[in-house]
Amino acid sequence: MIQYRENRLRGVDWNDLESLPPAERAPYFMNGKSVYHVLFAQQFDREFLDRICELATRTRRIAKTRGGMMFLKELLAEKRAMLYFAQPSSRTFLSFLASCEILGLRSGEVRDSNTSSEMKGESPEDTVRTFSSYFDMIIMRHPQGGFAERIAWLLSNSERPIPVINAGSGADQHPTQALLDVYTLQRSFEGQGGIEGKRIAFVGDLARGRTVRSLATLMTHYPGVHLSFIAPPALQIDEGILRTLDSAGIAYELGENLVGKLPDLDAVYMTRIQDEWDTEGESEAIDVSAYAITVERLALMKDSAVIMHPLPRRSEISPEVDSDPRAKYWRQVRNGMWIRAALIMNILDRAGEVDRYYDDLVS
Ligand code: CP
Repeated sequence: MIQYRENRLRGVDWNDLESLPPAERAPYFMNGKSVYHVLFAQQFDREFLDRICELATRTRRIAKTRGGMMFLKELLAEKRAMLYFAQPSSRTFLSFLASCEILGLRSGEVRDSNTSSEMKGESPEDTVRTFSSYFDMIIMRHPQGGFAERIAWLLSNSERPIPVINAGSGADQHPTQALLDVYTLQRSFEGQGGIEGKRIAFVGDLARGRTVRSLATLMTHYPGVHLSFIAPPALQIDEGILRTLDSAGIAYELGENLVGKLPDLDAVYMTRIQDEWDTEGESEAIDVSAYAITVERLALMKDSAVIMHPLPRRSEISPEVDSDPRAKYWRQVRNGMWIRAALIMNILDRAGEVDRYYDDLVS
């Protein structure tokens, strides 16, 4: 177990903590100057984003050789990670699993609460606390917004504090998806002056899409970006995100017309309609074709534009678009593995070793 140098959560009352706005809660989840529990996007500043992207790139390059892979495999061979996914997942689960394997961490998993003692009436809090007896890190997805944060607080007040990574919480946040999205944007705009000043549209179900909430929050660190939120009125982005953008001086607009906007955009971030959150089938009335990218609509876009999607997709991006060089969503999937490996190394304090190996490699 890594030393929790400065456990700022110890002795803190949960209700007091919960009542604070995210920016004021964020320092409680740090270890010294480093992020320890990873729970929401407001924890990341620009320095952290640049560092984690650079670490992901270094790890990716080191892994290109057998010797590099063997080095990475030894890095965290004495550690174990628990993957607790109480909601369905393909990419987040598998990319965390793959990044654990790359770094040599052994992993355990619960992907269905029906197989745990929650079925015997155990509380989710007790279930996760049990994991902390066997593992050195918990990576968790849960339908309840804020649950990962509560677990981080709970474990930090136990005799065995271990870091918690939020791998998606309700309709609330998906901070590691936002990291891989930033990494994908950064790589895509490397030769075009970076993310700063780009015109980026978020399209689809913006009310219930946790990836959009987290990524839009991170855009406050990129001066000059202009954000368009294009959605059916009932599924528009919430006021809280807009207030965050206002405070940071980020320009944005709300609208419904994707086709009219396409020629102006540098990046389009597509999302699916999340009808699993419907209470009365309200999504059925939405004309999803108005919020879709087809081969015909590709012709309206800049040659340098990028199309992203956290996936899974339905009909909002035609499969024929996949072979266009502007389609970056499969690259996003791959980037997720590298950024999550970088994040785990950072939390478990092995980033310096990667830096030293990389510096020797390129010198
Ligand atoms: N982007 C994402 O969270 O995908 P999964 O739900 O498949 O993990």
